[in-house]
Amino acid sequence: MSLHQLLLSLFLLLSSTISTAAATVAVSPVSPPSSDLSPSSSPTPKLPSPSPISTGTLDPKQQTALDSLNIPTPKDPCAPRPHPSFAATCDSSAPFRLLLSLSLSNCSDDVALTSTALKSLSTLTSLSFLNCPIPIVRLPTELALNLRSFTSINSLKKLTGVWLSRLENVTELTVSESSITASGPSIILSNMRFLHSFTLSHANLSGFLPKHWHPNLTVVDLSGNSLKGEIPLSLTRLENLVHLNLSSNSLDDTIPSTIGDLSSLQSLSLGSNSLSGPIPESLAELSGLTHLDLGSNQLNGTIPSFIRDMKSLKYLNLERNSFHGVLPFNETFIKKLEVLKVGENSNLCYNRSTFGSKLKLGIAPCDKHGFPLSPPPAKDSSSDDSSDNTDENDYGDVEEKKHHGPSKIVLGVAIGLSSIVFLIVFLILLSRCCK
Ligand SMILES: *[C@@H]1O[C@H](CO)[C@@H](O)[C@H](O)[C@H]1NC(C)=O
Ligand SMILES: *[C@@H]1O[C@H](CO)[C@@H](O)[C@H](O)[C@H]1NC(C)=O
Ligand SMILES: *[C@@H]1O[C@H](CO)[C@@H](O)[C@H](O)[C@H]1NC(C)=O
Ligand SMILES: *[C@@H]1O[C@H](CO)[C@@H](O)[C@H](O)[C@H]1NC(C)=O
Ligand SMILES: *[C@@H]1O[C@H](CO)[C@@H](O)[C@H](O)[C@H]1NC(C)=O
Ligand SMILES: *[C@@H]1O[C@H](CO)[C@@H](O)[C@H](O)[C@H]1NC(C)=O
Ligand SMILES: *[C@@H]1O[C@H](CO)[C@@H](O)[C@H](O)[C@H]1NC(C)=O
Ligand SMILES: *[C@@H]1O[C@H](CO)[C@@H](O)[C@H](O)[C@H]1NC(C)=O
Repeated sequence: MSLHQLLLSLFLLLSSTISTAAATVAVSPVSPPSSDLSPSSSPTPKLPSPSPISTGTLDPKQQTALDSLNIPTPKDPCAPRPHPSFAATCDSSAPFRLLLSLSLSNCSDDVALTSTALKSLSTLTSLSFLNCPIPIVRLPTELALNLRSFTSINSLKKLTGVWLSRLENVTELTVSESSITASGPSIILSNMRFLHSFTLSHANLSGFLPKHWHPNLTVVDLSGNSLKGEIPLSLTRLENLVHLNLSSNSLDDTIPSTIGDLSSLQSLSLGSNSLSGPIPESLAELSGLTHLDLGSNQLNGTIPSFIRDMKSLKYLNLERNSFHGVLPFNETFIKKLEVLKVGENSNLCYNRSTFGSKLKLGIAPCDKHGFPLSPPPAKDSSSDDSSDNTDENDYGDVEEKKHHGPSKIVLGVAIGLSSIVFLIVFLILLSRCCK
């Protein structure tokens, strides 16, 4: 066999190996999700663990009240057994135990919630409804004052601010995906002196943000309503606030320059409002921020460079605003983020010499004066690898790298190794046949 023939066969072998590998690459993104299909079997919300003493049975009056609700209940409501639509905890009093918490989910239409039943259940400190679209009933005063935690998610119908405002001793209030009739959140909040966590989201609330806030609040989520007006300075005095979500409202004016006083803040969402003006300098003081969403507003000015020094940041959304100038980030910073959205800021651009050019950010590269080069990204991305996706899903590229990076490396090594093995076998066979 001549050297020429040897080289030709080697070439054929290698190319077939590569095409097999390419087929594997094409298939690989499909297979990983299958691991996500593993059954997740904990839909019931976690409640404070019940007392270990389980000798007594439930108070007969409370048992009658539960029965009258017309919900499927377990034989022993105090038993800590998982049930698809019912969860409760009881105290350890004798001879009869009393209910401390009750959580109803996925109710059918024939649930009969009555004031009388609730009156018998006034020992409850926690009451929650999940997917139980039943009409509200008058809340007995004793129960209203006893509750520490109240939750209604896609549940109680015809909720009003007045009804909720009677829950004076709650520390946690969550109403989501249920419409509330009220002049605004203030009336609900004003009597709740012990409130720590305040969530009224997707509740069709209108009016203005409250001017008075309880200093111990750690969570404020009023997202997905129709709240208007400015963000009050009083809100920025909440030193214990960890999570603030005011996104998807109609808030306007500027972001308060005192926003940096929220020294415990980890998550700030002000997206999808009508906020204008610059990103305040004081934001630099929020060093614990992991989530920053200012997208879909009318913010302007340049993107401040202190953002790249926020060590904990994982999610950054500045898209759909009027920012201009050079994006002050480098590739190291962008790779550290899980989500980055900066697209649809028509005067924002990135410095070509800072980036390896592979990242699609949905903005144009800068000219040497720091203005966007026209024509915008489409031309630039044509030099990128195969993905012909003109849909500017900015951070898509970053995420893709994260998800498929390791498997590509593994594949590469596998392809390399198998080619070497093939080559050795081939050479051995070759040397035998040519002897
Ligand atoms: C309620 O029903 C939904 C879908 O019908 C299901 O995904 C969920 O796990 C159920 N919730 C509970 C607590 O069983
Ligand atoms: C709840 O608050 C009221 C006044 O708002 C107070 O009188 C009462 O002691 C509190 N109830 C409980 C059980 O802490
Ligand atoms: C939302 O509130 C408006 C008034 O602010 C009212 O007209 C409308 O019916 C409410 N929508 C729902 C679903 O309750
Ligand atoms: C805030 O919490 C602290 C400790 O948890 C408590 O001492 C203080 O009284 C609370 N303040 C208010 C206004 O509830
Ligand atoms: C803020 O609220 C919006 C709308 O309810 C929601 O999509 C988003 O996930 C929330 N942000 C955080 C950080 O929880
Ligand atoms: C930002 O917008 C405001 C009006 O909303 C305008 O007064 C201001 O000059 C703008 N600043 C910059 C830097 O474009
Ligand atoms: C990227 O910027 C960070 C500061 O945010 C800096 O520490 C790092 O050295 C820069 N990396 C490169 C490759 O320039
Ligand atoms: C882009 O980066 C290079 C190198 O860091 C720098 O010399 C140049 O001035 C930058 N261009 C712009 C427009 O900021």
